[in-house]
Amino acid sequence: MIEVDHASKSFRSRRAAGEVHAVIDANLTAAPGEFIAIVGESGSGKSTLARMLLGLIEPTGGAIRIDGVDITRMNTAQRKAFRRTVQAVLQDPSGSLNPRKTVGRTIGEIVRLHEMAKGRTAVYQKVAEVLDLVGLGPAEDFVHRYPQELSGGQRQRVLIARAIVLDPQIIVADEAVSALDASVKAGVLRLMRGLTERLGVGYVFITHDLPVVKKVADRVYVMKSGEIVETGPTDQIFADPQHPYTQSLLASELTLETLP
Ligand SMILES: Nc1ncnc2c1ncn2[C@@H]1O[C@H](COP(=O)(O)OP(=O)(O)OP(=O)(O)O)[C@@H](O)[C@H]1O
Ligand SMILES: [Mg+2]
Repeated sequence: MIEVDHASKSFRSRRAAGEVHAVIDANLTAAPGEFIAIVGESGSGKSTLARMLLGLIEPTGGAIRIDGVDITRMNTAQRKAFRRTVQAVLQDPSGSLNPRKTVGRTIGEIVRLHEMAKGRTAVYQKVAEVLDLVGLGPAEDFVHRYPQELSGGQRQRVLIARAIVLDPQIIVADEAVSALDASVKAGVLRLMRGLTERLGVGYVFITHDLPVVKKVADRVYVMKSGEIVETGPTDQIFADPQHPYTQSLLASELTLETLP
């Protein structure tokens, strides 16, 4: 279980004004098997919170803990375990896949690096197994392809395969389906949601897309100007939002949905 405990992150501003308070006193819990979503306007601190959860940046206040251990104070063994337990799936246009590596090599290298399997055959089997899990089967049709020989939805599935091959407990997905068109998005979402039941993975899912949240999330956190202003079960947030910001977020979404 990963726990954000009164975490804050400030950046020193290049301009004279001092500091940018990107995340302010945030509390959040993510657990295996649970699908949580973080929503909020652009610049509200969602990606900063995600990067703290992944251990990519350190909080300037508070702490991030995994099973009770502060992730900035892990020993070597704990850090190695953490690198497997918590995985990232980011939006593909950010260049998450190396254009010079085939799908097979991209995933195979991770399998070897983390010693998930040893020897050519065993590594290939592991790669084939996850490709099949993410709907990219039969594996021999995909292992030799380069990222640019795949569709956007297929690339996103490779990123998910690369994350789940390590048997993670939590996947932090920052706008992981935002660039996909509607039908492909639905397929990738179904896959991600399905893995919570099949593998027991938990998600911290960041998105602008409220209909997506409504469909897949168990619990929602609403961020505004660096703060988590409201949290609750998805049904409750959509049916009975308490914070004025959540109310306006849902209202503007409704207006968009009813546009001709
Ligand atoms: N490395 C950094 N240095 C300085 N300021 C930063 C840095 N990273 C983020 N910020 C600032 O922190 C605030 C939160 O940024 P963040 O990327 O977390 O927002 P976000 O909610 O993910 O937005 P979006 O929906 O547009 O992706 C913004 O004001 C941003 O300009
Ligand atoms: Mg962001």
